[in-house]
Amino acid sequence: MYDMAILWEWLTFAVRWTHVITAIAWIGSSFYFIALDLGLNRNIPGPADGEEWQVHGGGFYHIQKYLVAPDAMPAHLTWFKWESYSTWLSGFAMLMVVYWAGANLFLIDPAKADLAIWQAILISGGSLALGWVIYDALCKSPLGERPTVLMLLLFAMLVVMSWGYNQVFTGRAALLHLGAFTATIMTANVFLIIMPNQRIVVADLKAGRKPDPKYGKIAKLRSTHNNYLTLPVIFLMLSNHYPLAFGTQYAWIIAALVFLLGVTIRHYFNSMHARKGKPTWTWAATVVIFIVMAWLSSFPGYESLDDSEARTLTPTEERFAQADGFQDAAQIVQGRCSMCHAREPVWDGIRWAPKGVFLETEADIARHAHQIYVQAGISHAMPPANVTEISDADRQVLSRWFRAAS
Ligand code: HEC
Repeated sequence: MYDMAILWEWLTFAVRWTHVITAIAWIGSSFYFIALDLGLNRNIPGPADGEEWQVHGGGFYHIQKYLVAPDAMPAHLTWFKWESYSTWLSGFAMLMVVYWAGANLFLIDPAKADLAIWQAILISGGSLALGWVIYDALCKSPLGERPTVLMLLLFAMLVVMSWGYNQVFTGRAALLHLGAFTATIMTANVFLIIMPNQRIVVADLKAGRKPDPKYGKIAKLRSTHNNYLTLPVIFLMLSNHYPLAFGTQYAWIIAALVFLLGVTIRHYFNSMHARKGKPTWTWAATVVIFIVMAWLSSFPGYESLDDSEARTLTPTEERFAQADGFQDAAQIVQGRCSMCHAREPVWDGIRWAPKGVFLETEADIARHAHQIYVQAGISHAMPPANVTEISDADRQVLSRWFRAAS
């Protein structure tokens, strides 16, 4: 069913669209509240802990913060949780659509670990759950009282995970999983800690009891972690579009360094919003770390992105290689695409196969049948601006080959 390819393509687009929108909503509201909280004017009379005046969209807003709660519970409370939940749910859907359904292409690297698809999926999903269990246990241990030591331990845990994922998955999947691992902790913080604690406090207030301030303290610790983890997660989620970030044996160090960037950049904004000056040294540190990351990506020992030696074709890929019209299609791809999509591209200005997509050997071509169909058969996305002048007749040959095997 070749039209499944079209449906699938639009499904992935819809899921990605949703994920980006929900992530914007979550991160936006979280940045807003962090800045609001840090910037509150705390020298005010009355029971409130602090207040702020803001102007936006033609109106003035007067916001007051109550540390535990106001004397009487308001009739209506706005909760912030679905921004976080929907980001995780749509992200998990994307993980399944891209990395589980496309395990052979994107998840499994037989040169590292020759996993069966079910094994790879088990590691993928299992590691996310395990990460939360370990993180939560650490926070609840006596270490929870020592935030700095705890932060260092968490950083160590992320470095270990970064290394571990790079031992079993493709570089691209490894960085993405480190992002998903971290983001799972962040959403679970909201779902399993911050929200339940807030509900206890609200219930206490409604019943006229005085809530234990420990709940607020716990929530604050988790939310501080989330604050520092936000930027690294976005980097890791975007990294799969940049082969240099993941296509090296040092990808695990690059990924670990990103977490330091999260701290240096957030520290600047946190200080600024708290009106504690502008520590510009953090930008110098950020640039230095970024340069180290870039340098690592081209370090001698650069691991080739080539995996073709290590892999035999799966039955589906084999079907594309046997299908009617494969030889003609392969010839077209080799003539119109491989100058860029090669292990050593010959096109001026292209130094690495774009997006890590190789279209050189017959095995490469059989493996990327779906992408070739979508990018060059039914759409004119490739070659860019049709620089290699593929004809419409050739595009039809590509489509016919794909359909013949679908
Ligand atoms: C002039 C160089 C060049 C040629 C020739 C070329 N491509 Fe590309 N290709 C690129 C670039 C650059 C990108 C990355 C585009 C981007 O960043 O969105 C890319 C991306 C891709 C992707 C990945 C798309 C994605 O978003 O994951 C596929 C698949 C692809 N090309 C297939 C082809 C096919 C099939 C042909 C031949 C019909 C072809 N390309 C010819 C430069 C080229």
